Amino acid sequence: MKNQIVSKEEIAPNTFRYQIKHPKIAKKRKAGQFVILRVHEGGERVPLTIVDSDPEAGTVTLIFQAVGHSTRELAQLEVGDHLMDLAGPLGKPTHIEKFGTVCVLGGGYGTAPVLPIAAALKAAGNDMIGIIGARNKDLLILEKELGAICPRLEVATDDGSYGRHGFVTDVLKSIIDEEKVKVDFVLAVGPTPMMRAVANLTREYGIKTMVSLNPIMVDGTGMCGGCRVEVGGETKFACVDGPEFDAHQVNFDLLMKRQATYKPQEKAAADHACKIGLDKA
Ligand SMILES: Cc1cc2nc3c(=O)[nH]c(=O)nc-3n(C[C@H](O)[C@H](O)[C@H](O)COP(=O)(O)OP(=O)(O)OC[C@H]3O[C@@H](n4cnc5c(N)ncnc54)[C@H](O)[C@@H]3O)c2cc1C
Ligand code: FES
Repeated sequence: MKNQIVSKEEIAPNTFRYQIKHPKIAKKRKAGQFVILRVHEGGERVPLTIVDSDPEAGTVTLIFQAVGHSTRELAQLEVGDHLMDLAGPLGKPTHIEKFGTVCVLGGGYGTAPVLPIAAALKAAGNDMIGIIGARNKDLLILEKELGAICPRLEVATDDGSYGRHGFVTDVLKSIIDEEKVKVDFVLAVGPTPMMRAVANLTREYGIKTMVSLNPIMVDGTGMCGGCRVEVGGETKFACVDGPEFDAHQVNFDLLMKRQATYKPQEKAAADHACKIGLDKA
């Protein structure tokens, strides 16, 4: 039945992989696109990347970390439960071409959106290098899956508990500087400070770089203006013009400011406990 969760797996602490039945999205979706879901009627809209799909089985794969109120609600669902709704595929598919040597970087659970794009870039004949990072070994995801796509996969952890001690940008810099690898194209997805750090690095070398932005999204159709970002001095809507943009043109400072807009409300939602039992009504 549509929107039913057919499999659930915790792939890292608080990070879940769901397969959800939705034959139309499973058939239509392309790398780089996302869905917006609601867990229940009064629920917030949650944008999540379509990590994979199985058109035969009619399922889409989503990976998410339970970080706030709505993703925690999503994490409470079990196999057999239904989402209230699942809209998509949304956003522009990734522009895929043969660039030559491509380096894909994933930070934290931003590694999930990298996976389908890396697969499409490889299918187009690019030589793939993958670099993934996380705060520590336990939080690292999809090493095996990305390793199957990238013959060379490097890992960095902030605390040095696995792979190289440091940021993904440190690894990229040493590949370019010390190993003198000619990287033709870079794609980075992860926390905004990570994407900004990658953009600042590759700008120095003149390497074409795309990032997939995650501003606040509401309707996902270009109507509400919630996801507006500044790219090359122009206002763009990440849901319909993106989510991928030229990293060297993105105004990351403005993006970070807008991402923090609802921090007090998000904190209040996370701390809130209903005292009159409405949450059980
Ligand atoms: C297009 C897009 C789609 C998304 N889809 C999903 C989705 O499907 N599911 C979902 O749950 N979330 C999704 N997100 C959210 C996003 O991936 C998370 O906000 C992000 O990964 C935060 O992860 P974290 O808390 O582990 O970050 P952190 O633990 O803060 O950082 C993770 C790693 O990033 C690197 N890093 C951090 N800061 C820097 C820095 N200053 N310089 C260099 N490297 C740095 C480090 O290697 C670090 O270990 C999406 C985001 C984007 C952009
Ligand atoms: S989410 Fe409303 S305009 Fe993009």
